[in-house]
Amino acid sequence: MAKKPTGNTSGRGQRDLTVKVKSARGRKMSSTLWLQRQLNDPYVKRAKADGYRGRAAYKILELDDKYRFLVPGARIVDLGAAPGGWCQVAVKRCNVLGQKTSKAQGTILGVDLQEMEPIAGCELHQLDFMEDDADLKVKEWLGGKADVVMSDMAASASGHKQTDHLRIIALCEAAAYFAFDVLEEGGTFVAKVLAGGAEGDLQKLLKTKFTKVANVKPPASRSDSSEKFVVATGFKG
Ligand SMILES: C[S@@+](CC[C@H](N)C(=O)[O-])C[C@H]1O[C@@H](n2cnc3c(N)ncnc32)[C@H](O)[C@@H]1O
Repeated sequence: MAKKPTGNTSGRGQRDLTVKVKSARGRKMSSTLWLQRQLNDPYVKRAKADGYRGRAAYKILELDDKYRFLVPGARIVDLGAAPGGWCQVAVKRCNVLGQKTSKAQGTILGVDLQEMEPIAGCELHQLDFMEDDADLKVKEWLGGKADVVMSDMAASASGHKQTDHLRIIALCEAAAYFAFDVLEEGGTFVAKVLAGGAEGDLQKLLKTKFTKVANVKPPASRSDSSEKFVVATGFKG
């Protein structure tokens, strides 16, 4: 790999610092392109500077800036939480560590297939949310109602667009049914979906359960990805 600035090309006295990654023996072209995109992604750089575990943190920050569901005192369930960027954002915004003494203190329960490094204030569990009775386990850990159920769950890409789409919809549906079960009246459901057709039924269902359902592509979501987020607010109970 060679990191090199490609020189002054803007004509405005600004250096174009695009990093080019040379292909290397044993590395697939797709991996080379992924690496190049990572190295040039401003959100990846920002995440490093801001101490977030990944660029995904900015997606929930931007969604919350618009819909304001991460409030002090909120009880949050984060499905597909690893490596932990969304949890880190929720810790701050929900006053989980009691930093703002005059405000209510929130709680966060994070679940993922992968083991996670601890995050102060978060209860984290390794679990496949699609396994039998996973919802019962999470309910038991939660021990009551939640104000927000958020899911960034995504299966690793198979390379087959339709298969990936159906998988993500299945994850999103599982998260939605869990939300119907545990959300407090007025609560919020946020989940990642992929644009591609089969999400219509889920939208219809969500519209019967929430007062508002929006489909959003936050700026931090890469424009070349079909990922978007559904934000359902005002759970009817
Ligand atoms: C895009 S990442 C989530 C990033 C996270 N929001 C953050 O800010 O760090 C998607 C996660 O979904 C998890 N995942 C996929 N399928 C899952 C399942 N069946 N149960 C639990 N987690 C799952 C993956 O392990 C992966 O960590």
